[in-house]
Amino acid sequence: MANLKKYIVAICGASGSIYGIRLIKALLERPYHVMVIISDGGLKVLEHETNFNGQSSFREFLLLEGTKFHESANLEVFIQHEIYAAPASGSFIHHGMAIAPCSMKTLGSIASGFADNLITRSADVCLKERRPLILLPRETPLNLIHLQNMTRLCQAGATIMPPCPAFYTSPSTVEEVCDTVVGRVLDHLGVEHNIIKRWCHDEDNAMF
Ligand SMILES: Cc1cc2nc3c(=O)[nH]c(=O)nc-3n(C[C@H](O)[C@H](O)[C@H](O)COP(=O)(O)O)c2cc1C
Repeated sequence: MANLKKYIVAICGASGSIYGIRLIKALLERPYHVMVIISDGGLKVLEHETNFNGQSSFREFLLLEGTKFHESANLEVFIQHEIYAAPASGSFIHHGMAIAPCSMKTLGSIASGFADNLITRSADVCLKERRPLILLPRETPLNLIHLQNMTRLCQAGATIMPPCPAFYTSPSTVEEVCDTVVGRVLDHLGVEHNIIKRWCHDEDNAMF
């Protein structure tokens, strides 16, 4: 376990929990250690938008969602109050964090350095340690405060990746639509994958 690459995925109380779930699924199907942090709001929206009911374990839920766990993969799940968990410290080495989806509240907290829970603290640590931090902010329309917070985070080193699916690959299910975003997150985390069709002019693999 010590040699596995480690990734952190946080789920906030914005709509689009499926993005976080699809990302966690994709990571756990590879030999990685995945640390999931769910905010209080994230838990509520997750229960509303998916079949997760809080009674079953998160692992069981992922299995029901079709996750084929890699034999070496490892899953740890935290709630936002577990501020003593490893990702809260810069001395804990990992390979990147994604917040999918990211609420405007959590976005604003991170943008102002207000590290009051395990998600905002872990993100703050990523920025100070110059580790990949990818945010999937979800809200529409965006007000000036949202936009300024995104600019501030981008300037501080975060990658702002709004969950805007691509349709040029002709996805036919909700999962395929979401994976057009998840695939780009994996690209930015440096994870090799083939869950998206890529635009290319190579005759053997042309999309058009
Ligand atoms: C069903 C539902 C959907 C929501 N969707 C969003 C959303 O898309 N974006 C957002 O910023 N907040 C959304 N919220 C509000 C957040 O859940 C709320 O601001 C919460 O305090 C966020 O806290 P967290 O970032 O710690 O999870 C939604 C709330 C509910 C109940």
